[in-house]
Amino acid sequence: MCGIVGYVGDQQCAPILLDGLKRLEYRGYDSAGTAIYDGAGIDVRRAVGKLRNLEKAIDEAKPQGSVGIGHTRWATHGRPSEVNAHPHLIGDVAVVHNGIIENHLALRARLVERGATITSDTDTEIVAHLIDQRVREGADIEAAVRGALGEVRGAYALAVLSAKEPDRLVVAKSASPLVLGLGEGEAFCGSDIPALLPYTRDMIFLEDGEMAVLERGKATITTLAGAAVERAPQRIDWSPVMAEKAGFKHFMLKEIHEQPRAMEDTLRGRLDRENGDIHGLEIGLSDEDARGIERVYLLACGTSYHAAMTGRYLIERLAKVPATVEIASEFRGRDPIIGPGDLVVAVSQSGETLDTLIAAKEAKSRGAKVLAIVNVIGSAIPRAADAAFYTHAGPEIGVASTKCFTTQLANLLMFSVWLGRRRGALDADQTRALVEDMARLPHLMRDVLLGTRQLVANLAKRYNEARDVLFLGRGMSFPIALEGALKLKEISYVHAEGYAAGEMKHGPIALIDSSVPVLVLCPKDPWYERTLSNLQEAKAREAMVIAIATEGDEEVRDVAHDLVEIPEVRTELTPFLTVLPLQLYSYYVADFKGTDVDQPRNLAKTVTVE
Ligand code: F6R
Repeated sequence: MCGIVGYVGDQQCAPILLDGLKRLEYRGYDSAGTAIYDGAGIDVRRAVGKLRNLEKAIDEAKPQGSVGIGHTRWATHGRPSEVNAHPHLIGDVAVVHNGIIENHLALRARLVERGATITSDTDTEIVAHLIDQRVREGADIEAAVRGALGEVRGAYALAVLSAKEPDRLVVAKSASPLVLGLGEGEAFCGSDIPALLPYTRDMIFLEDGEMAVLERGKATITTLAGAAVERAPQRIDWSPVMAEKAGFKHFMLKEIHEQPRAMEDTLRGRLDRENGDIHGLEIGLSDEDARGIERVYLLACGTSYHAAMTGRYLIERLAKVPATVEIASEFRGRDPIIGPGDLVVAVSQSGETLDTLIAAKEAKSRGAKVLAIVNVIGSAIPRAADAAFYTHAGPEIGVASTKCFTTQLANLLMFSVWLGRRRGALDADQTRALVEDMARLPHLMRDVLLGTRQLVANLAKRYNEARDVLFLGRGMSFPIALEGALKLKEISYVHAEGYAAGEMKHGPIALIDSSVPVLVLCPKDPWYERTLSNLQEAKAREAMVIAIATEGDEEVRDVAHDLVEIPEVRTELTPFLTVLPLQLYSYYVADFKGTDVDQPRNLAKTVTVE
C-alpha cells in the first residue's frame, strides 16, 4: 500500500517526482525515496518518516537528471527504515513497488543460495535482484523485467529504471493500481490520477498482466507474454485545483464542505425531472433485467460498508427486492450461496480495495452480475465488474472518507428508485416526488453544513476530553451512527462505538455515566418514538446527550443537553443530512487534539492488502 511515480522527459525530474509523491502521500507515509539518472549512474535518496525528510535530503544533494522514479511507503514487509525504503538499487537497476510479492521468501532463499547479498527485509529488493541478474546476463531492461515477473507471484505495480538504458522506464502491473500519463515529449506513471494531474490529463490505465516502456511522449504497452496492446489515452476532466486544499486547513474539512458540489455532480444528468424518473445510469441493466433480479448483495469495507448498509434499507424500502449487505472480507471466506439471479453491488471509493475486489470477482465467478459503485475511474473493481456506476465526487485525499460516502448514498438511492420504478414497487407519482426531493439535496446539505458548523465545533471543544463516545441510531440512522463512530475513532483516536439504539439496553448501557457523550440520531422518521425512548434512557444514566434531530422538535429539545437540527426531509434523505454534523464533530475533536487529520496513524487511503 504505497505510492509510486515516474518521469521520463527533458525537465529536471526531482521536483516532479516530489510533487507527485506529495499527492500520493495519503497512500503511505512511513518513508519515501527517489532514484534519478544523473548522467553517470543512478542517484538514490531515501528518508524515513514524512515526505519533508526526503525533500530535505534532495534539497541538500540536488540530484540532476530528467529520468527517475519515486516512492512513498506504507510498510507491509519490513519495518519502516531507510534500508527498507524504496527505491531499491541493485547493480544498475532501481525499482519501486506497490503491492506484495507472495513467493518472496522462496525467491529470497534461491537468490541467497546463488550468492546474492540481500540487505533489506522487503519483497521488493528480491524483484530488483531478479531483474539485475538478467541485465548482467545481457538482457535489455524490458526483457529483464518481463523475465523476472515470470518468477514472481502476487500483487505489484512496478517502475524500473536502468542505468544501462537511461532514456526509458519500464513499468508493470498486477492487482495494484498504475496509471500512465502522456505529455509533449514526456511520459509519466503514478499510482493514481491526482499524482499526474498537474502535468497531463491524457492518461492510460494499465491492466493487470500488462507492462509498458515509457519514453519521451510515448508508452509502448505489451502483455507480460509479449503481445502488443493498443490503448489510446483517455482525457481526464479533473482539474489540478480539485486536488488542492483550496484554503481549508485540512483536506478532510475541504472535502466535507465540497459535498454539496459533489452531490450536484453525482446527480447531474441522472435525475430526469421532466419525466419524473431516473435515467442515464451506467448500470448495464435493461428494464427486463431489473425485473429479473431476485436478490441484491451489497459488498464493501469500512465507510463504504456503512453506505452499503444504508443502501440495503433503500433497496428494500423503495424497490422491494430482498437485499443483503456484507463486509467484503467476510463474504469470500464463507462459501456464499450466490449465483445467476443475484445482483452484487460492490461499493468502493478507490475501486482498489483488495477485499472488495476479491469478493466481487468471487461473486462473478459464481454467476452473479456485478455492478461497481466507485469513485475512481478505471480502477480495478469497475474493470472486474459487469458495469460501473461512478460517483462524481472528484479526488478524495483525506484518508477519512466523507464526500465519497454521501455520493455513494446518492448512487444507491438513484439505483433503488430506478429499480423500484421498473419493478412496479414505485408508481409514477412516487418516483416523481422522490426525484424532486433528491434534486434539493445539494442545497439542503449546504444549509446543514453552514448552519451547524459553528455549533458542532463548540460541542467538539466542550466534549473533546471524553475518553469514550457512543453513537446511537435506528433504521436508516443505524449505519450513520456506525459511520459517526468510525470517523471519530480513525482521526481523533477516541474510543467510540456505534450501536443500533434498540441494542443499547442489551449491554452498551453499562458503559454510560456522566463522562460519556452520547450522540443520538433521532430525526422524525418511522423509528423516531423508539429512538426517543432510548435517548431518555441514556439521559437517565447521566450521559451527556447530544441529539441530531429535526428542526422544531421541541420534545427532543426538552430532553437533550445539546441539539443539532437538520431540516425536515423524507426518511430516505435523512442519512445525507444527519451524517454531516457527525463528520464535522469528528473533524473538530481531532483538530482540537492536534492529530494528523488527513493522514491518521496506521491508516492508508487505499487498502490493497487482505
Ligand atoms: C474510513 C475509510 C475506510 C474506507 C475503506 C474502504 O473513513 O475511508 O474505511 O471506506 O478502506 O475503501 P474503499 O471505499 O476505497 O473501498
